[in-house]
Amino acid sequence: MADLFSTYELKTAKFKNRIAIPPMCQYMAHNGIANEWHKIHYPTLARGGSALVIVEATAVSPEGRITPKCLGLWNDEQVEGQREIATSIKASGAIAGIQLAHAGRKASANIPWEGDDHIPEGNPNGWPIIAPSAKAFGGNLSKVPKEMTLEDIKRVQNDYVEAAKRAVLAGYEWIELHFAHGYLAQSFFSKHSNLRTDEYGGSFENRSRFSKETIQAVKKVLPENFPLTARFGVIEYDGNDEETLSESIQLIKEWKELGIDMVSVSVGFSTPNAKIPWGPAFLGPIAERVRRDANIPVASAWGFGDPKLADDAVRNDQLDLVMIARAHLENPNWPYQAAMTLKKERPAWVLPAPYAHWLERYHRPTKA
Ligand SMILES: Cc1cc2nc3c(=O)[nH]c(=O)nc-3n(C[C@H](O)[C@H](O)[C@H](O)COP(=O)(O)O)c2cc1C
Repeated sequence: MADLFSTYELKTAKFKNRIAIPPMCQYMAHNGIANEWHKIHYPTLARGGSALVIVEATAVSPEGRITPKCLGLWNDEQVEGQREIATSIKASGAIAGIQLAHAGRKASANIPWEGDDHIPEGNPNGWPIIAPSAKAFGGNLSKVPKEMTLEDIKRVQNDYVEAAKRAVLAGYEWIELHFAHGYLAQSFFSKHSNLRTDEYGGSFENRSRFSKETIQAVKKVLPENFPLTARFGVIEYDGNDEETLSESIQLIKEWKELGIDMVSVSVGFSTPNAKIPWGPAFLGPIAERVRRDANIPVASAWGFGDPKLADDAVRNDQLDLVMIARAHLENPNWPYQAAMTLKKERPAWVLPAPYAHWLERYHRPTKA
C-alpha cells in the first residue's frame, strides 16, 4: 500500500515522495520578472523535502496577470530569472514545476494585502481585462471585462504555447495549466461567466473548446514524455454541483485523451455566491471520484496540512499527490515534521544530506 513517503513516477518526473507544493503567488515581481525574493523563496521550500515544487501562477500574457506584481513568461527577458528558480529547485532535490495562467476577468487586481479588489478604472496601475463574456465576477472584482473576439482567443492560446516553450527552455520539468479558480479557462467552462452564443459558448462541447484547443496546442511544443497537468475547479458549490461535477469529469476524460497526465482537483470559484464547505481535506472525496471515474492520477490541496490526513489521502487511494501549501509557509521543512509525526524510519533523511546527517545525531540520545 502506498503512503505519503512512497515513490511515484509520472512520465519523466520521478517523485521521492507524494508531497508537492502547489502554486502560491508571491506578488513580488516587477514587469513579470523574478527577483531575489523568488530566488530565495523557492529553493527554501524545495529544501524542505517535498518531491515537487510548482512555481506560482505565471502569466502567459501581460493582461493575464492577477496583479501588477505577478510573475510572467510572455517575453524572453523573463526567462533568465525563471531559469535560476528552476535550477535552484532542482539543486535542492525537488522536481521543478510551473503553473501557466491567464486570470481573465479576475485580472488587474490589487495585491491581497493592499485590498485584493480590482484596481479602479483610470488608475494607471491597472489595465483593460478580457473574458469570454462582458460580465464581471462581482463582489470586490466588479470591473466589466471586454468580450474576447475569436482573434483574442487564438492570441491567448498562442501565448500559452509561447510561455510553455519558455518554461521548458528555463528548465522546468512539469507544467500545470491553470484552468481553475475562475480565471480565463475556468470562465470559458462555467455558465456563471460564459454567455457566448458562438462555438465557444452554450453547449458542453462549446464551453470545453477553449481548454481543449489550448491543451492540444501546448502539447505539440513539449518534449516527448513531458508531464502536462491541469488545475481545474471541478465543483462550484453553487447548488448545481452534481451537474458541474459530472460535466467536469467528462471534460477531464477528454483532456486525458489529448495528453493531460494529472489533474489537480480544486474549486471553480466562478461566483462570489458559492457556499464552500471549508474544512480539513474537504476535497478528498471529490478528488477520489474524479480519480476513479475519469481514471486519471489526481492531486489536491486545501487543508491537508495535518500529516495524518495527508498520509490517509494516499493510503486510501484518494490522491496520488498531496498538495501542501500554507503549512509550508509556516514551516518550510513540513515534510520532515510530517515524517516525525508519522514515525517514518530515519525521518531526517527526508531532508537533503547536509541537514539530515546532523539532525539525525542531534535528536539521538547521547550515551555519556
Ligand atoms: C499565498 C497564496 C498564494 C496562492 N497562489 C495560488 C496560485 O498562484 N495558483 C493556484 O492555483 N493557487 C494558489 N493558491 C492556492 C494554493 O495553491 C492552495 O490551493 C491553498 O493554499 C490551499 O492549500 P493549503 O490548505 O495547503 O494551504 C494560493 C494560496 C496562497 C495561500
